[in-house]
Amino acid sequence: MSARNHEQWNAQPKLQSGEWVDSKIYSDEEIFEEELEKIWKQMWIPVCHESELKNAYDFRTMTIAREPVIVVRGKDMKVRAFLNVCPHRGNMIERRPSGSFAKSTPSGTPKTMTCMFHAWQFDMKGKCVNITRKEEGYQDRLCESDVGLRELKSEVYFGGFIWVSLNDNINQTVEEFAAGALDSLAPSVNEEPLEVFHYHKAIIDCNYKLWHDTNCEFYHDYLHYHNRITGFNDEYFARKNTGFKGGHVNVGSFEVQYENYEGFHSREELSFPHLPANQWYMIDMFPGVNFNLRGSALRSDIMTPLGPNKVMIEFRGLGLASDSPKDRKIRIDHHNSIWGPFGRNLCEDLIAVTGQGAAMQSGSESRQILHGRHENETIHDENGMRHYYEEWGRWVGRSPSHPDQPFVEPAETA
Ligand code: FES
Ligand SMILES: [Fe+2]
Repeated sequence: MSARNHEQWNAQPKLQSGEWVDSKIYSDEEIFEEELEKIWKQMWIPVCHESELKNAYDFRTMTIAREPVIVVRGKDMKVRAFLNVCPHRGNMIERRPSGSFAKSTPSGTPKTMTCMFHAWQFDMKGKCVNITRKEEGYQDRLCESDVGLRELKSEVYFGGFIWVSLNDNINQTVEEFAAGALDSLAPSVNEEPLEVFHYHKAIIDCNYKLWHDTNCEFYHDYLHYHNRITGFNDEYFARKNTGFKGGHVNVGSFEVQYENYEGFHSREELSFPHLPANQWYMIDMFPGVNFNLRGSALRSDIMTPLGPNKVMIEFRGLGLASDSPKDRKIRIDHHNSIWGPFGRNLCEDLIAVTGQGAAMQSGSESRQILHGRHENETIHDENGMRHYYEEWGRWVGRSPSHPDQPFVEPAETA
């Protein structure tokens, strides 16, 4: 048989259950809303890096599952996270992506967060310090101590990343949540302070899970000429994909032959601490975070799902805070030549996933997306995605391959 007619095209694949997912999980509005509620509002999400808030009163804003969030560094140098929402009439307090509260602004006094609407003020611990014309309006019925910002659980963990959860009742530390998935890179990122030297973001028409997939599976290295030239050897094909509790996955390391690509050089000289020369590790954290260390530069992808077929991905490049200006320049070059907006790798992934997004828009017919390769859990095995989608099913309560049916633990179906 050659090409398929409609009925044949829709037939169930020859593969086993769990070896494909229904494309509806990438395009359905109702499933997307459930994901925000059941996954994104429940977990630890890294939102930025502590080097982006170097000084007391520095802040950065973001959203988690549409909720506005602000992280600020207090006078005590501790980083805290709050809902970026005023308890008076629900205005978003700070609209800038980043900045400092140290100095006064036309609508605020120094060292406070001031809501522009009616000028209520809050300190860096979220305490309300001024209600304008309080006695005139509220007499003795409401005062500063009756209101305040909603503080969110936060932790600085894994090389200085700031993790936040909207779930006050989360019963795990970030370390427990990671379940060992961060351990392979912990010695390299925790040895000395890191610093963000690169930031760019992409807002693209594809589901966030498709970006996570492209970080989880390496079979698509056929897309990347640079990766093929510098990578396809016995050691590469022996790289292991290892699953961890909670849907996280590690991609094991190997030695990249950078000199095989014209104009590229070994990264040995600026290797991260405890990292053998030119090694390359990847960590894919559920539900959509990626840490990627290529010898001399660490990349993090932090995703903000914006709709079933829209995601914002923030890309950061990190080096050692102790870098000399000369070393930093080389590190930036190493990073950008691969992972910058015009580098040899990342833009190719963006083109590929938007091709998937174009074919999986809301209302498009369901089709099967295959995850069925088995190669002894090595680099072109698709066990990383299977591991992720099993966890996804658990949290959303739907079968990834039959999303209108409830999730059933694989052991029970065996
Ligand atoms: S809404 Fe913030 S002060 Fe009124
Ligand atoms: Fe890729």
